[in-house]
Amino acid sequence: MAIDYLLLAINLGVIMAKEIIKIDVKAQNADAAKIKADVLAIGVFSDVKNSAILDGLDKKLNGAISRLKKIGDFKAAIGSSAFVYANGKIAAERVLLIGFGEQKKVSMDIFRQAAAKAAFEAVNVKAKKLAILLHYEEKDADFEKLGQTITEGIHFGGYRYNEFVSQKPDEAVTSLSATIVSDRQPVINKISKGVSVGQIIGQAQNFARTLCNRPGSVLYPAELAAIAKKVSAATKGLSCTVFDDKQLAAKKMGGILGVGQGSVHKPRMVIIKYAPRGAKNKESIALVGKAITFDTGGISLKPASDMHEMKYDMTGGAAVLMTMQIIAKLKLPVAVFGIICAAENKPDGGSYLPGDILTTYSGKTVEVLNTDAEGRLVLCDGLEQAKVLKCKTTIDLATLTGACVVALGKHKAGLFSNDEKLAEKIKSAAKETSEPVWQLPYEQVYTDEMKGTISDLKNAASRWGGSCTAAGFLGEFAKDIAWAHLDIAPTMDASEPMKKYTQPGSIGFGVRLLTEFLRNIK
Ligand code: BES
Ligand code: MN
Ligand code: ZN
Repeated sequence: MAIDYLLLAINLGVIMAKEIIKIDVKAQNADAAKIKADVLAIGVFSDVKNSAILDGLDKKLNGAISRLKKIGDFKAAIGSSAFVYANGKIAAERVLLIGFGEQKKVSMDIFRQAAAKAAFEAVNVKAKKLAILLHYEEKDADFEKLGQTITEGIHFGGYRYNEFVSQKPDEAVTSLSATIVSDRQPVINKISKGVSVGQIIGQAQNFARTLCNRPGSVLYPAELAAIAKKVSAATKGLSCTVFDDKQLAAKKMGGILGVGQGSVHKPRMVIIKYAPRGAKNKESIALVGKAITFDTGGISLKPASDMHEMKYDMTGGAAVLMTMQIIAKLKLPVAVFGIICAAENKPDGGSYLPGDILTTYSGKTVEVLNTDAEGRLVLCDGLEQAKVLKCKTTIDLATLTGACVVALGKHKAGLFSNDEKLAEKIKSAAKETSEPVWQLPYEQVYTDEMKGTISDLKNAASRWGGSCTAAGFLGEFAKDIAWAHLDIAPTMDASEPMKKYTQPGSIGFGVRLLTEFLRNIK
């Protein structure tokens, strides 16, 4: 039922109204005590005395806020929050105090997390109306960016994946209407500008999460391709081509075909084009996404524990698709191809075998030593496709290696590049958007480990430095172009600290980072 509803929504072309909880953010000039909301959220620094507005509210609430602090139930630490019930003393039903931590350590990311926390807690109490009060006299703050960040945060924390949860209609939260409130009109004007950008990014990122959260048997390559077609058709400026398995065979894309051949769900390559008039770049930038809609490991089968998480193995592809939608909606003056390599990796009578030698689209041959190292096999055809499209800058995103998770934990994605300038731009976009990356080595010694004996390359080497050797392999398909590879296996789902302010599962990693990177193209 839920799926039918969603597909209907897509068919009607209202892609962006189709988060599972419809989230809408506005900015408004209003007086704190008069705001009608189920939850009025207020950030509090642990080491700053209250603002005049917060003191005013406290007075109206007969000192309930200061009492909460005094008895030690709320110390305003980062990640903490506390409800105060208003009992009709102000227009809002509840006040939600959100900890900002120490003022000198505050950052845009802390505001993002705080906004997410506010929306997360609001949805937990089934609120329909959330107001977020700006009340400190933030001096030279970049209010436009703050508006965007808070809006993205609200979307991030308010998101719930509940397509398959039976809910009684009167219990289900179907919408969250959020308002960012200040009593300073010039601030509101700037915040509003950021809100409209944040809405586009937040909604797109949440849809990327939904695509990843959908079970593998629901979202398989042809289904992903069909969704990409519909997203593109509904977004002005995008066009979309899909290669089905027959076309992939005609093009001799032996990498993606080999990986996908063991599944009844045949592989697809999706190419989305955005080429606005007046684009600043002559040659298009390519974004290449790994979209293994489910990775069992194939004949080199994965262990059963945690295998279900491999529905997230399409995170790169989902990020590429939704970034394409965002840049078209924002009308960015930059030409981009999004290339999504979609396949399902499954054991079957017809599966590719360890020892098979695949001839990839580039003509290079690869001996398959492990069918679970499938990401690099689909990506090498995607990287070659980017070259065929004459792209001179390519960024790929892939949940590529468990080794990268071992190296970095679940807090940062791995970055590899053959071009320092490109790497720097990605690092700066990562910092700006709090989708953190950490650069790891792309060097010849790792590539050498991937050289074949009876083929040009092999798809697996020793266990040591597995994310670096994987990058070494990919780099062989990105010679003569500026290329960066993001191993997003670490960030394919929420880390432990994130679970304080968002639901476990996909976090749509890469959408904000790629968008920021493309917004910064000069
Ligand atoms: N999709 C996995 C990588 C992965 C593992 C992502 C855990 C997120 C969490 C990838 O296809 C894979 O299986 N890689 C192998 C490569 C190895 C066989 C060379 C791995 O990391 O073990
Ligand atoms: Mn695998
Ligand atoms: Zn995989």
